[in-house]
Amino acid sequence: MWKKIFGGKAQPNEEELANPLFDRINWERLPRHVAIIMDGNGRWAQGRGLVRTAGHKAGVKTLKNVLKTAIDLRLEALTVYAFSTENWKRPRPEVDFLMKLFSDYLIKELEEMNDYNVRIRFIGRKDGMPESLQRQMTAAEELMKDNTGIRFNVAANYGGQDELLRAARSLAQRVAAGELSAADIDEKLMEASLDTAGDPPVDLVIRTSGDQRLSNFLLWQSAYAEFYFTDTNWPDFTPACFVDAMVEFAGRDRRFGGLKNT
Ligand code: FPP
Repeated sequence: MWKKIFGGKAQPNEEELANPLFDRINWERLPRHVAIIMDGNGRWAQGRGLVRTAGHKAGVKTLKNVLKTAIDLRLEALTVYAFSTENWKRPRPEVDFLMKLFSDYLIKELEEMNDYNVRIRFIGRKDGMPESLQRQMTAAEELMKDNTGIRFNVAANYGGQDELLRAARSLAQRVAAGELSAADIDEKLMEASLDTAGDPPVDLVIRTSGDQRLSNFLLWQSAYAEFYFTDTNWPDFTPACFVDAMVEFAGRDRRFGGLKNT
């Protein structure tokens, strides 16, 4: 049902129209690119008397369901914050658990994501991740590179400031090599130098679990994004919660610095 269905403009097919989950969706006012800060795994687990890592495990299930919903809604891009450049400060067993979780996810979900026509990409400093995981990430990207469905960016060892620094360095190197002049550097070139090159700007940032900050996520890409904060912990964030965010987004007046739009 998910296979090769993405065709550009969001238009529901009969199956989707019959899905009561989508009754509240305004198909003309969906975001093109949604970014999610999947927060609250630890709190979810602790609230149930479980170890924190149980929360991360439950978070994988949530991610799978949300990705499927995003595919059904024909979103162009979904970017999720899986591991920040700051997350290395966590206790070693938790970091190791997360690395294993990413690896298992790639083993278990690769074929299905490919069947769903997903284009996966890892953003951030892949080179700082364990070598075997780097190989898996590259293989997954390679497998799905010609797919035409949703762009699924997984931010791993990612920091927005780090991404901007890397982009600035690469542009400076091109100037030093005489390929570009400093005056050529504009928004388009900057965007093309980011890890998310080719993706539309982020329309909506969702953060679960109550905190209301960006935490160094997609600093450039979110310049005009709408923000949606919910107290729900990530493992409890159902497809219906995702639809709630879509409904809220559809009602926002986006002015991009101009005058009233709606
Ligand atoms: C934040 O919750 C969550 C993370 C740092 C890890 C996110 C990872 C997943 C959801 C696993 C799935 C990802 C992939 C790509 C397979 P937290 O630990 O900071 O929660 P807390 O704020 O309650 O402590």
